[in-house]
Amino acid sequence: MTDLTGPTSRSFRAVAPSNIALVKYWGKRDEATQWPANDSLSMTLSESQTITTARRTSDGFDSFSMSGHTLHSREDADHKIFHHLNRVRESLNVSGRLEIISENTFPTGCGIASSASGFAALTLASAAALTGESAWDALATRGATRTKLADWARMGSGSAGRSLLGGFSRWNTGEHANAQTIRQEFTQDHWDLADVIVVLSSQEKHTSSSEAHRAAWGSPLFAARLAGVPERIKIVTQAIRERELPLLGREIEADAMEMHAVAMTGSPAINYFSEDTIRFTAWVRKQRGAGNFPAWFTIDAGPNVHLICRQSDASDIATTIRKEWKNAKLIMDRVGSGPTIEISTQFKSACHELTGGLS
Ligand code: DP6
Repeated sequence: MTDLTGPTSRSFRAVAPSNIALVKYWGKRDEATQWPANDSLSMTLSESQTITTARRTSDGFDSFSMSGHTLHSREDADHKIFHHLNRVRESLNVSGRLEIISENTFPTGCGIASSASGFAALTLASAAALTGESAWDALATRGATRTKLADWARMGSGSAGRSLLGGFSRWNTGEHANAQTIRQEFTQDHWDLADVIVVLSSQEKHTSSSEAHRAAWGSPLFAARLAGVPERIKIVTQAIRERELPLLGREIEADAMEMHAVAMTGSPAINYFSEDTIRFTAWVRKQRGAGNFPAWFTIDAGPNVHLICRQSDASDIATTIRKEWKNAKLIMDRVGSGPTIEISTQFKSACHELTGGLS
């Protein structure tokens, strides 16, 4: 009988991308079930990834290492990572402890959200290690269909569910918490869009998005935002379907500004913008108005700016930014095909393999 535990057990390596929301998930109707207040739609990225390797261990506890720091479920049982592993085990109806190593291909602590790629990779690697399966079909026969994996991932962090799918994906609230769905709207090949991520500040965000989702309910603007989201999702879907960049751009800028307006007027009020965020977004609009700068911005829960443009324009756009914004760091990302899972010959940190990052 194969020993599934200890250093001889097989390692499973999941590579999961981050995603950038074009229509933001903002506010939860219910926290326990991670039921969002509105539908959201995102573009799965390609370069900004989390690489997570998991294997079974004969230790009586789970461990999770990242950037040289290790957590053990014995001491940190209440950590959300260990809650997540319990959730995956229960959902698969399997037991067994895991040893996990995780790294991001993009620099951590630079204000780029890593929870989407992080929980997507954690879910996939742990499901593979617990079942001993690395093929999508085989995982599905063990109960870990892509739909289920997305559903488990969103319980760890809402936006992570969308990272299980490539291309453009949509998270629907459904009529009740159990009727939520996450599905692919368009494949990666549909439209070769780029995301030039402009890192203006390397500071960690001061308020977690979980707290901010709660604060949204106190904003007098929130009801108006929720009322308008269905129409915006329709327009954004149409813009992607017809590859209408100016239409898409107008809506994603409006959506990001609306989300931040809700945050700024919430209870408590939360401001994720830095002075440079304001200056940079104004500069983008001015550049666009002057011509030769076909890029539109969106901003997540932090001060940094994502510029969505055609892949064929991305390098010119980056050159223009570098000329004027000498201190900004850029990550050149684009639409991606979603996560991968494979058996790994080694159990090691992915650190030395990092390819993406700031330039
Ligand atoms: C601004 O997914 O980080 O990125 O579910 O509490 O973990 P939790 O929140 P999280 O919120 C993401 C908010 C956002 C918009 C989005 O990705 O849709």
